[in-house]
Amino acid sequence: MNHLIAPSILAADFANLQRDVEMMNNSTADWMHFDVMDGMFVPNISFGFPVLKAVKQYATKPIDVHLMIVDPDRYLKAFADGGAYSITVHYEACPHLHRTVQAIKELGCKAAVAINPHTPALLLKDIIADLDMVLVMSVNPGFGAQKFIPHSYTKIAEVRALANEFNPNLLIEVDGGVDIGNAAKLIAAGANVLVAGNSVFSAQNPTETIAALKNVTI
Ligand code: DX5
Ligand code: ZN
Repeated sequence: MNHLIAPSILAADFANLQRDVEMMNNSTADWMHFDVMDGMFVPNISFGFPVLKAVKQYATKPIDVHLMIVDPDRYLKAFADGGAYSITVHYEACPHLHRTVQAIKELGCKAAVAINPHTPALLLKDIIADLDMVLVMSVNPGFGAQKFIPHSYTKIAEVRALANEFNPNLLIEVDGGVDIGNAAKLIAAGANVLVAGNSVFSAQNPTETIAALKNVTI
């Protein structure tokens, strides 16, 4: 399968959000990645429903909602109603992860689980068959423009090995510090959805950078 590109709205210019959403619409981006942070699960607060509504009004591509919040069950319906295509919850935030994953699916969204850099891939073994996607965090969640953690290559390969055994169609998304310099190696390791914030939005030409990420071959 060809890999997908999901530019991260966290790195967009919020004073020109419509312009940046339209840039993504007119690019080779596949999804738009939407980071929700609550100041509890992660040490930062980003945005929520009013911004999702504003993005949804203009977006012509699926919105990939990444919830970096405690007790995400409280808000799954609101994000589904707000137009999420996929909803990612964190393994570390969900004591009843199986129930949470089923709830996401019942709402008609693709269900994904994210793991922080310190969380072993093997912990996904008993849930991976129920998932549409695993998100491997390649930075500690909370901020854009952080340095990529090299152990992520191994982590992705470990998730891919589990997927080969239990869920061959699983998507593996990588999020944090992704750029044109590491994209090929991430895809070679087994990732097939690349989130990119800073590397896209701080580029001279974001549209061309998205195209370059999309055209990466291994
Ligand atoms: C980090 C977020 C990422 C972030 C990635 O907590 O989950 O989606 O936007 O940004 P970059 O690509 O700048 O590392
Ligand atoms: Zn994210």
